[in-house]
Amino acid sequence: MAPKEIYIGVIGAGGVGKCFLSQLESLSKRYATNASSPKLSLVLVSRSTKTLYSEKYTSLRFENLSTKLAESTQKTLSVTEAIEFLAATPAKAILVDNTSSQDVADQYPSALSKGISIVTPNKKAFSGSYKLWQDIFSAAASSGAKVYHESSCGAGLPILSTLKDLVDTGDEVTKIEGVFSGTMSFLFNSFAPLEGSGGKWSAEVTKAKELGYTEPDPRDDLNGLDVARKLTILARMSGLPIESPTAFPVHSLIPKELESVSSGDEFLQKLPQFDSQMEETKVAAEKEGKVVRFVGSIDVAKKEVKVGLEKFDRSHPIAALKGSDNIISFYTKRYGANPLIIQGAGAGGEVTAMGVTADLIKVIERLS
Ligand SMILES: NC(=O)c1ccc[n+]([C@@H]2O[C@H](COP(=O)([O-])OP(=O)(O)OC[C@H]3O[C@@H](n4cnc5c(N)ncnc54)[C@H](OP(=O)(O)O)[C@@H]3O)[C@@H](O)[C@H]2O)c1
Repeated sequence: MAPKEIYIGVIGAGGVGKCFLSQLESLSKRYATNASSPKLSLVLVSRSTKTLYSEKYTSLRFENLSTKLAESTQKTLSVTEAIEFLAATPAKAILVDNTSSQDVADQYPSALSKGISIVTPNKKAFSGSYKLWQDIFSAAASSGAKVYHESSCGAGLPILSTLKDLVDTGDEVTKIEGVFSGTMSFLFNSFAPLEGSGGKWSAEVTKAKELGYTEPDPRDDLNGLDVARKLTILARMSGLPIESPTAFPVHSLIPKELESVSSGDEFLQKLPQFDSQMEETKVAAEKEGKVVRFVGSIDVAKKEVKVGLEKFDRSHPIAALKGSDNIISFYTKRYGANPLIIQGAGAGGEVTAMGVTADLIKVIERLS
């Protein structure tokens, strides 16, 4: 039976955090109309420099929460203090980490060992050192607290839950392959489209930045590390003890000469000098009747993980991807030659928050 009351603390109120808080408000109202659902009490919300919390653990009101947080004069709690605050709630507590902070992620074992469950889209804890991964799951196993992180790979797409179900039900996952970055998806779908010839590489990167598809410095997307982090999570869930996201080959699309230029703007200004490298790759694929895409793959049997450019037949689902969608194919013994494929938006505040809220519901249902 689900507990009668659950206390929730939310760290991070940016793009995803704000959408999550709005979804939490709807969920709380829906639960309040159902006698068998627990009462959800939001008792802490924080940003990097502000904290709003309820000293007596009565629920904060959702109205104008962002403004109240921005104007809060309460002491800004450190992550450790926020965890202590949640550990002292009168009933079970859940910490929702909507940051991309390594400092917050490093505190998960401590929170879990104090019985606080964790729900998060933050990749850092699950794709950092293998020791942190082990510490997180052993702390959860000993205390009974739960940890769910669906949105740490592919936003709200049901990628981790699907992989977990495949593994837990005894299927043999042989290979995982896909486009794991909305930015890379958008770039390659425009640079090497199925219809038409696409623009110059540097022009497509500049356009993607102008449309808000890249990080402020596009090198943070082009270095492949974000994809490598997602692959690390999937590989570990498939049973491979990957040490870190730098423990396997990752093909960075940043020309060596531009790795150390001082700003994203200078990088974009100089990138046209290197267009011929990407053009050659595109033309080589075209000569074989294929298109080039930036993919991550895990060969589970060979224990090989890699991230980089691959050529695909024009009829392949990866070649036919549209816009900034992600696509992930699971090749398994049960599914045979036709993989189980998950496709759709892999970024965006609302869909990412959907994955977080869905995880929160799972934790609530499993806490007893
Ligand atoms: N956006 C997406 O489409 C998407 C998709 C999949 C996964 N994710 C993941 O979702 C998470 C949130 O992404 P986002 O786009 O919402 O980022 P964001 O807009 O940059 O918001 C991050 C929030 O975390 C707060 N924060 C950072 N460090 C903190 C700390 N040490 N203590 C307390 N608060 C801290 C920031 O505070 P300030 O407001 O004071 O700066 C901000 O409110 C990230 O892990 C990201 O990788 C995002």
